[in-house]
Amino acid sequence: NETLKNRSVLSLMEWSPAELQRVLYTARVMKKEPHSPAFRHALEGQHVALIFELPSTRTRVSFQVAVESLGAKAVVFEWNQSQLGRGEPIRDTARVLSRYVSGVVVRTREHETLQEWRKWADRPVFNALTNRMHPFQVLADVLTIWEKLGTVRGIKLAYFGDGNNMANSFLVLGAKLGMDVWIASPEGFQPAPDVVHWAHQEATLTGAGIHVTDDPQAAAQGADVVVTDVFQSMADDPELASTKKSLMAPYQVNTALMSLAKPTAIFLHCLPAHRGEEVSEAVLEGPQSVVFDEAENRLWVQKSVLYHVLADSSAVLGG
Ligand code: CP
Ligand code: NVA
Repeated sequence: NETLKNRSVLSLMEWSPAELQRVLYTARVMKKEPHSPAFRHALEGQHVALIFELPSTRTRVSFQVAVESLGAKAVVFEWNQSQLGRGEPIRDTARVLSRYVSGVVVRTREHETLQEWRKWADRPVFNALTNRMHPFQVLADVLTIWEKLGTVRGIKLAYFGDGNNMANSFLVLGAKLGMDVWIASPEGFQPAPDVVHWAHQEATLTGAGIHVTDDPQAAAQGADVVVTDVFQSMADDPELASTKKSLMAPYQVNTALMSLAKPTAIFLHCLPAHRGEEVSEAVLEGPQSVVFDEAENRLWVQKSVLYHVLADSSAVLGG
């Protein structure tokens, strides 16, 4: 079954629930047997470029490790140290790189930049974060949920704070997998209206629940998974930072908010975290926090997706 083969990953909107499940299943197999010879040479002879317009720790390192653990080589470079930084058009860069490497992982400010890249590239393009979507992060998150709670369908996932790339991505993922997704954000900073609309439509097919509210308590009530992210994202207008900080203060995930969730609830954060802003020190470092298992899972889901998209002879697991 090779439906993901040679496909770009800009968001998870285009994936079927079965494709999502296959990627998660392979990720678990890879994690269980990290030295399995089944994957060590899967991408041998290939090169994958990793390009960053914005800073990164997890994405940069975990993608490089994922690429190299499949037998390929990673070519990592900064946007501004390439000719992109001097204005060479995306359409030229995308076509040139397609002659050298078998895929490109790109972190860029504007989602439209990545769409332009995909339009001109002859090779798959992987979204390493844009202002609109962060698909590999929510794949890692759902793997973590599956590992910790044993199930995904029907669970209540509550996200607090800025209606940013993470909030948009949870709407997409949750709608696909039949989760009960709650996004609690202040007016003016709620998720992208077209993504919310899309999620409602998708939910009619999957039985998901989609709720966007400005009421953090309602969202927290009985939640299985509590999530937050920074109030100010890398691609955001810096002039909005102080307004956002005061508007979003009531959405901080702290012990009081956590106490409304189920006692078995887990806490997720894509990191980096700002202690005392979107999350309290006590929650981030507390017993319900699984943020480092979550960070580890970036590696496994990326390895799985690279394998499904780029491996030549897909002796693909899971049928
Ligand atoms: N969570 C995440 O994407 O982290 P980095 O910005 O460090 O890659
Ligand atoms: N929403 C954050 C996520 C960082 C991994 C940002 O875009 O900066």
